Amino acid sequence: METATTISAVRERVRRWRAEGRRIAFVPTMGNLHTGHVSLIEAARSHGERFVASIFVNPMQFGPNEDFAHYPRTPAQDARMLAEAGCNLMFMPEVAEIYPNGSERATRVAVPGLSDTLCGEFRPGHFEGVTTVVAKLFHIVEPDVAVFGEKDFQQLTIIRRMVTDLCMPVTLIGAPTVREADGLAMSSRNQYLTDDERRKAPLIHQTLSAAVERLRAADKDFAAIERVGTDSLERSGLRPDYFAVRRADDLGPPDADTRHFVVLTAARLGRARLIDNLQLAL
Ligand code: PAJ
Repeated sequence: METATTISAVRERVRRWRAEGRRIAFVPTMGNLHTGHVSLIEAARSHGERFVASIFVNPMQFGPNEDFAHYPRTPAQDARMLAEAGCNLMFMPEVAEIYPNGSERATRVAVPGLSDTLCGEFRPGHFEGVTTVVAKLFHIVEPDVAVFGEKDFQQLTIIRRMVTDLCMPVTLIGAPTVREADGLAMSSRNQYLTDDERRKAPLIHQTLSAAVERLRAADKDFAAIERVGTDSLERSGLRPDYFAVRRADDLGPPDADTRHFVVLTAARLGRARLIDNLQLAL
């Protein structure tokens, strides 16, 4: 695996692959990689012939009181994991390479509406930071295919909309959420949990599963399903920002005719803010 820290080095490498007629698959990350991230490279395998991963903790998507400064950074371990997974090029730029004029006044890409609901309501500006950096990374790498985790369902939905709206020539692949044995979705932020909090965390997945079971049983009282989910998280000491039943295609409110649901939640537990979701197609 090669490592690049500059945009020009990535372009040069990718240009040569493209001249050889190789399909390029791309996996953007913020590093501190775990099995969930590695699964994205594996999912990319059937869609490309050369694999690029980026590791960049993007300041634009963190709010002023969020964990940008403390976000776990493990570059040596990340490089090892990517090399083992068969990644060909790791792009690990400094902030100044991506935002030479600072991130505050940089040109932005925004997806209004979809970015303002759910997590967007609690993390203003977050998704604008995500779409801006992903658009920039797509311009830098120019991949044929890019892989994102369904773990961040709203993020994936927003990026799909961006790609459609801006006619970006990239095919998006969504990869299923990788979980710990007890159901907890793998996340770099799970490290923030104390032992006691870690024991409570699987409740997020259990509560989502219970909501999905009600939907599967044709329960159409979505408000009640959301209330029960919120209550059961709160009773165990989690602090949910939201627990929501939505249409999977556009995150809109479901109705009696909805066939494809997603139940999404974000909950605070100690220092961590954990997100998870489950889909159901009837
Ligand atoms: P990060 O949180 O590092 O996640 C990188 C990719 O890994 C995302 O597509 C995310 O959905 C996926 N992922 C994380 N945990 C996963 C799990 N348990 N199972 C499957 N996939 C998982 O998401 C970001 O970084 C950033 O917002 C980014 C898109 C890189 C833009 O900065």
